[in-house]
Amino acid sequence: MATKAQRDYYTMPAAGEVLDARLDAIAEVMPKGATVLDLGCNDGSVSNGLLERGAIAKSFGFDLEDIIAHRRPEIVFQAADMKTFDLGALPDADGVLILNLLHHLVGFSKERAKEIIDTLIARYPFVIIDMGSFTENGDWYWRRAYTRNWKSDAEMWSFLFSSAKWRFKLLRYPTQGKGQRTLWKLYRDPYPLEGLETVETFKRVPGTLHKKLIPVAQVGDTVVVNSVEFSLARSRQGDKFWIKRYLGGNAALRAGIECELARLAGQEAMLINQRARRDLRAVEPVAVDGGVLTFLFEPELFAGEIVHFQDWSDFFTPEQCKAGGVLGARPVSALPGLQPMKLLSACDFQICVTWDGISALDFEPYNWLTQLRARA
Ligand SMILES: C[S@@+](CC[C@H](N)C(=O)[O-])C[C@H]1O[C@@H](n2cnc3c(N)ncnc32)[C@H](O)[C@@H]1O
Repeated sequence: MATKAQRDYYTMPAAGEVLDARLDAIAEVMPKGATVLDLGCNDGSVSNGLLERGAIAKSFGFDLEDIIAHRRPEIVFQAADMKTFDLGALPDADGVLILNLLHHLVGFSKERAKEIIDTLIARYPFVIIDMGSFTENGDWYWRRAYTRNWKSDAEMWSFLFSSAKWRFKLLRYPTQGKGQRTLWKLYRDPYPLEGLETVETFKRVPGTLHKKLIPVAQVGDTVVVNSVEFSLARSRQGDKFWIKRYLGGNAALRAGIECELARLAGQEAMLINQRARRDLRAVEPVAVDGGVLTFLFEPELFAGEIVHFQDWSDFFTPEQCKAGGVLGARPVSALPGLQPMKLLSACDFQICVTWDGISALDFEPYNWLTQLRARA
């Protein structure tokens, strides 16, 4: 267990080569003029890089000992061992960076790691975190602790981040042992969504396996689906959202049913995970307003071009298809007076392999709509 600060960290290719990409991703979602805590600040490279980018105004850095290489008045260092440090003694700040430190603390005690995250999420407006992952294969003490405690990154993140209602995925980057790490921004509570600024709007090409999305500005003669439209939007906090707008008749009803189907699928996915130890989830909107659904943006789901359609076997392993199929076979019963039916009969939802498991999304209703029309 480390008692001394990790020297020469950024001379390791796995750390040095990804620093700029991490700093850029963090700078994008940092409120201007922010004061941050930088827990496990090492030689101050992260705080210094954010100061250089004009992304923060001040940083309180904490590490096992003072190895600060970037000495400047905006970086205030304090020696602290996060295994035992009294978290109540941390200063006030606009947000927290706890970068590539938590796996060390999990190696010490997963309960302490959880206590730290819960405390930070409860006290500070947001927490930005990355940490060692299951994709890294090496005989490190923290990696052995992972295997002892969980079966996957998804299960570990569910445990550690359970008090964060909003989890934005900022970046996936390569690291040691051919692995990948994920950078997150966590919020304990949702914030009001007024004033989202649209960055770009997309439409879908029909009938393609990929369900290709093309920017509306470039649609030209291309035949596009005119029943829904998607937009990438950004909040004042710099966070990205994905907006799905139902067009045409019954827009609010269709959006409302999708919302309900996604919620039911989320519940079913949780039950399946508990029983079968899978990493299945449903992508649920964070807001619905008339015919408009708003989602947290997830880069791997909405990378621009591809949203996977139900020809799952062309894209996914049999095991992944089976997980989607188990969810699709669950009967859902949401609207009073309508017959329960299998999720896959109520809508043609899609699946996608995401950084946190298999994600089901896009629960556009058709059968329920037919039933509703028949009843009307
Ligand atoms: C892998 S480095 C990450 C440096 C920087 N945060 C980044 O992400 O680029 C982990 C840092 O956490 C520090 N550290 C490890 N255990 C710690 C503990 N118990 N308390 C405080 N700092 C610790 C190490 O000294 C090291 O500087």
